[in-house]
Amino acid sequence: MKKFPEGFLWGGATAANQFEGGWNLGGKGWSVSDVARAHFDADVKDYNKHVSITTKDIEEGLAHPEDEVNYPKRHGSDFYHHYKEDIALMAEMGFKTYRMSIAWSRIFPNGDDLEPNEEGLKFYDDVFDELLKYGIEPLVTMSHYEPPLNLVLNYDGWYSREVIGFFTRFVETICTRYKNKVKYWLTFNEVDSMIRHPYTTGGLVEDRFEGKNFEEVIFQAMHHQFVASALATKICHEIVPDSKVGCMLTKLTYYPYTCKPEDVLAAQQKMRSTYAYSDTQVFGEYPAYLLSYFKNNNINIVKEADDDRIMKEYPVDFISFSYYMSSCEAADKTGLDVTPGNTILAVKNPYLETSQWGWQIDPLGLRISLVELYDRYRKPLFIVENGLGARDVLTEDKKVHDQYRIEYLKKHFECMLDAIVEDGVELMGYTSWACIDLISESTKQISKRYGYIYVDIDDYGNGTYNRYRKDSFYWYKKVIENNSVDF
Ligand code: BG6
Repeated sequence: MKKFPEGFLWGGATAANQFEGGWNLGGKGWSVSDVARAHFDADVKDYNKHVSITTKDIEEGLAHPEDEVNYPKRHGSDFYHHYKEDIALMAEMGFKTYRMSIAWSRIFPNGDDLEPNEEGLKFYDDVFDELLKYGIEPLVTMSHYEPPLNLVLNYDGWYSREVIGFFTRFVETICTRYKNKVKYWLTFNEVDSMIRHPYTTGGLVEDRFEGKNFEEVIFQAMHHQFVASALATKICHEIVPDSKVGCMLTKLTYYPYTCKPEDVLAAQQKMRSTYAYSDTQVFGEYPAYLLSYFKNNNINIVKEADDDRIMKEYPVDFISFSYYMSSCEAADKTGLDVTPGNTILAVKNPYLETSQWGWQIDPLGLRISLVELYDRYRKPLFIVENGLGARDVLTEDKKVHDQYRIEYLKKHFECMLDAIVEDGVELMGYTSWACIDLISESTKQISKRYGYIYVDIDDYGNGTYNRYRKDSFYWYKKVIENNSVDF
């Protein structure tokens, strides 16, 4: 029987902006996600409709603070009031770790405040204490689509260099406060994602940059995030000496559509473009790919004298990533089917099945990704997001028979084992997205459910918020108990 390595960190993952709720309680300020409106009737292929936000959209959101129907992230799954029950359920499954994020605007409501909000700090103290009571190790994302809205409106988000200072103040505050409670940290969720959703990740609103090259704006903002991430790693290591700090990338995996060399080249270039950001965080310098891209597209990044040194001196300790799907790339895409995926629209792979939202299911792609990442970086890997978004049905006796999710996970776990045992990959752990149902980032629906635990609300926030164990809950518990998928 193949087993996972001893001490393997099994667990689950969530993010405050999608899960926590309590968006205006305990002194929390507005975050970018609190004004991100749902588009309930939009086509899933129209991802941009969900993510491009204008100044007018923000004003609209600010003008309707009472509206939690069209702004479902405001209520999330109400972890804010359910954290004890939720953590007890995680403990029942045997979680070794729980990945969560700290909402920046709960600690610094406006982002630029000089003093932190004690009530916010206390909330996470309580959460961490509860986790530690059960021996569950927190794995904390410092920023997961949660820049405070004030930084968008008064500083133009991460485009402003000043935001680096606000962020490092936040990092210093949380590292100091939780130094005896949190050892595993991630800096920015899907650091590459600013290119695909500049608002959620970078607080960038295109109509505020009239007359500027918006792509250059995005890369400038990204540069600030790279410097901030390196500084966060430095701060964290200084304050929490035994801490481990990781980067977090969206592991998009592209295959050549055919073996035509033109398609192979197209896929290789696509992969280089997806690795460019983690390359920067792991090797501490911009890769040749990005430098050529900047040059060829007349993108000029403004740097300060110390930036290159800072990025070089404080690379990450491990590489974490999300993996949901793979897709294809072709030199000529005319006539080829496209399919939506994790924040992308890509060429469909005729050999793969898809989820109800069109994401292509590819367990072997996870093994391929693990091998690629390990060979490239030679640092420990951590899968911090993976899972199946599906329409679950709660039966009258409050059960959810989600055999499809069990199958999906089992196949992925077998591929992880092969990568560890056959391919020699060093994998620290696995936290499935999302262990408890929460609001989807792309579609803002809770009916796109990922959890082992069902949360009884519908897309409009109607329901009891009661939690129910799905069939996958009992299955995952056994996986953790046996440290294996054979039992
Ligand atoms: C990742 C994000 O890209 O994918 C999560 O880090 C997100 O925040 C997850 O929820 C799944 O995507 P979606 O759109 O189905 O919620």
